Amino acid sequence: MAKVIAIANQKGGVGKTTTCVNLAASLAAMQKRVLLIDSDPQGNATMASGVNKFNLPHSITQVLIDGIDIRECVIAQTSGGYHIIPANEDLTAAEVKLLDFLVREFRLKNALTAIVANYDYVLIDCPPSLNLLTVNAMCAADSILVPLQCEYFALEGLTLLIDTVDQLARAVNPNLKIEGILRTMYDNRNRLSADVSQDLEQSFGDLVYKTIIPRNVRLAEAPSYAKPALYYDKNSTGTKAYLALAAEILEKDLLEAKRQEAVAKARAAKTVRKAPAQPAAAPHAVPAPQAQVKAVAKVAAAPRAQTTPQAAAPAARPTTARAKTTRTSA
Ligand SMILES: Nc1ncnc2c1ncn2[C@@H]1O[C@H](COP(=O)(O)OP(=O)(O)OP(=O)(O)O)[C@@H](O)[C@H]1O
Ligand SMILES: [Mg+2]
Repeated sequence: MAKVIAIANQKGGVGKTTTCVNLAASLAAMQKRVLLIDSDPQGNATMASGVNKFNLPHSITQVLIDGIDIRECVIAQTSGGYHIIPANEDLTAAEVKLLDFLVREFRLKNALTAIVANYDYVLIDCPPSLNLLTVNAMCAADSILVPLQCEYFALEGLTLLIDTVDQLARAVNPNLKIEGILRTMYDNRNRLSADVSQDLEQSFGDLVYKTIIPRNVRLAEAPSYAKPALYYDKNSTGTKAYLALAAEILEKDLLEAKRQEAVAKARAAKTVRKAPAQPAAAPHAVPAPQAQVKAVAKVAAAPRAQTTPQAAAPAARPTTARAKTTRTSA
């Protein structure tokens, strides 16, 4: 069964699409079966994958609104070695039409059930907004990958996003968690980047990927050749960074799978020992979802203190203070 990851940040231009396309290509190059779902009316991920958004037989719009079989919308031929469900500007109207449905948040999740078993990873490229398209992506997802540019105000936007994830986890998708926070377009000559990056590590610990995506012109050029960077310049620092990210994600997932296996074995052994006395106890001891909910709660706890501009979160303060210091001393 695929792991479904929504790539989201309501802030525009932080590297969501670049991450989606290049991570998809990197995972596919590592022999994983990957489906990319373009859920942004801009259709940038579609074009960057070598699919013409102006000439689509079907797109994600028909899946969400007309309810056509999702299998008919999958395009298997992309320049990145993965499958794609494309998007174009029709999706803008679709977002409004979604309001007509009684159960509007689960349109994508319900459609996905028909094909999710065919893949190892499903990556959803979200638009720069916390709208119904993003909510659909988050309801269909197991986790959220947040690309974040290390700059002034970045942590403030992150607080809002984590709040949304927290609300959705409590209301509709209890297993939803933050997959990881990815530092993008990192410029190591920039003092502010280093300060924000350090604040992120202090506030979010292991949730911050070790891999950092550098600012790299090859990553910016590749979409104009309708390719992921891996097939445009395989030796560029951008390509290598996304390959490293894919490897980091695979390693984390392998460790998690082993952990879950060990827990399941321990639980089975315990159930066997206790079977005559407590046959109904095991279902309450399911550890994975609880751990996931706890993880979301833990992530949400720290930054959620920042509910008003006056009550700035501890995470945001050092950045702001340091940013000001940096700017005045520069
Ligand atoms: N690491 C990078 N180095 C250099 N340029 C980058 C990098 N990542 C992204 N870019 C460029 O920055 C711009 C914004 O990136 P991208 O489109 O991936 O962001 P986005 O978050 O998807 O934007 P939107 O919110 O509009 O969907 C693009 O022109 C892209 O080519
Ligand atoms: Mg985008």
